[in-house]
Amino acid sequence: MARLKPVLAELKAYTVPATPPPVKLDANESPWPLPEDARRAIGDAVAALPFHRYPDGRATELRAALAEWLGAERDELVIGAGSDEVIAMLMQAFAAPSDGRPPSVLWPGPSFVMYRITGLSHGFVPVEVDLKPDFTLDPDAMAAAFAEHRPSLAFYATPNNPTGNAFDEATLRALIEANPDTLHILDEAYGPFAREPGGSAHSLSPWLAEYPNVGVLGTVSKVGLAALRIGWVRLRPEMAAEIEKVRQPFNLSATAQAAATVLLTDHAKVIEDAAQSIVRERTRLHAALAERDMDPQPSLANFILARVPASAKEALLAKGVALRFFGDPRLDGWARITVGTPAETDALLAALDSL
Ligand SMILES: Cc1ncc(COP(=O)(O)O)c(C=O)c1O
Repeated sequence: MARLKPVLAELKAYTVPATPPPVKLDANESPWPLPEDARRAIGDAVAALPFHRYPDGRATELRAALAEWLGAERDELVIGAGSDEVIAMLMQAFAAPSDGRPPSVLWPGPSFVMYRITGLSHGFVPVEVDLKPDFTLDPDAMAAAFAEHRPSLAFYATPNNPTGNAFDEATLRALIEANPDTLHILDEAYGPFAREPGGSAHSLSPWLAEYPNVGVLGTVSKVGLAALRIGWVRLRPEMAAEIEKVRQPFNLSATAQAAATVLLTDHAKVIEDAAQSIVRERTRLHAALAERDMDPQPSLANFILARVPASAKEALLAKGVALRFFGDPRLDGWARITVGTPAETDALLAALDSL
């Protein structure tokens, strides 16, 4: 143990309960299972795989399907086993000291916990800049932190997890323009929900054409395919080629590649329908939480942050409802509620009303 990285003493393994409760609103998954025809098509594609061979390391077919779906070029994409792995690849590629100091990674928070965990385990100095009390960006604090730390990487989850809001675009642009030596990663894990009901999703990916120091992170985990573990970052091709050098040779299983390719090629409507239905249900859930004076925050994601005392956690679980509570003192008194099916919203509201 003596030679383990000392920073591991600060970290805890990421664990999730083994038996999920009936109303699982704690992990920002889609509540909708895949329809039968999509499952059958995936089954056929998987049954035909050459299981005795390594998978295609470059994920050629999935890359083509994903590029088409995103409107991206194939060589702009680095694909990983979830965007978690892509975050780790970015960290690995950028874990070099600069100006004689260890590398640093900056993000506005509270936000996605893996920026800190992955940063620490790759030797980065983590720099989390507090959001304002209303969870918007603090432009002065961000500018000051950039000036002090000159981070190699910056991550912005927009819409942000767990607050649900998207960050101000003018502020983001100013930070990207003022800090050309930083690679700024716009994490759009929740991008498919960044829309009003009936509208189409808003993405910052057009910024790739404007800024060489920007990447856009994405995932299919939130739109119904969490089990596959497929995420990506879209970057200028010359930067993508550098990140590819740290990718494990066979990082995506053949089964995940085949399933995701079938989905994105022939059943992409399933993904769009799930996003649309979640956005509609989000409006209903928001109104119901507001009626109960739970101060639901405006959300462009597939979850809503609302006031729920931590003491309600076990009582809700006893009624079969799991929400996400946090150890972070800035999130005391708040819970993150994933948008479920209409029936799950009913069950949640009944459980809340009974407490
Ligand atoms: C902001 C954000 N980015 C990235 C991820 C990672 O998603 P995945 O590894 O499933 O693609 C998550 C998951 O919760 C997230 O909230």
